[in-house]
Amino acid sequence: MGKIKVRVKINGKERSDEVEPRMLLAHYLRDVVGATGTHIGCDTSNCGACTVVMDGKAVKSCTVLVGQANGREIKTVEGLSQNGKLSKIQKAFLDKHGLQCGYCTSGMLMASYWLLKKNKKPTEEEIRRNLSGNLCRCTGYQNIVEAVKYASELIEKEGEEEEVVVESQ
Ligand code: FES
Ligand code: FES
Repeated sequence: MGKIKVRVKINGKERSDEVEPRMLLAHYLRDVVGATGTHIGCDTSNCGACTVVMDGKAVKSCTVLVGQANGREIKTVEGLSQNGKLSKIQKAFLDKHGLQCGYCTSGMLMASYWLLKKNKKPTEEEIRRNLSGNLCRCTGYQNIVEAVKYASELIEKEGEEEEVVVESQ
């Protein structure tokens, strides 16, 4: 099958690549871009480990063909930290022990980042509903919910970070 050319902006940086049209965005990010923070935890679009933000909306990147990402902006977990400094949502997960093995964490972070972009003060119910597409086998979810609440407090107190361009993924 012939290759197609895709142009995408990933974590603020534009790039274009020739790829097979049947390639999934999750595989493109990991295998072509090298953004391996995006995890693949299932092949049934259930787990949410592959969650990234595309044009301002959280998507499961294993459900998106790379051609569908053409011309779009994508934020991956690599785009959260700022010059080596953890973002507020990352700091909150760390401080509130919102992770154990960490496999689900990049997806949890991106789904939470998206929630806090559209709703700065989510209720516990809204947090749980927002994360209902992300599975965690370790934490029992409570600390993840606490982490999102804490991130919301940090953002209220200190404001949001500016978006930065990530040179290397
Ligand atoms: S790898 Fe995408 S939902 Fe599980
Ligand atoms: S921390 Fe292990 S799957 Fe969530």
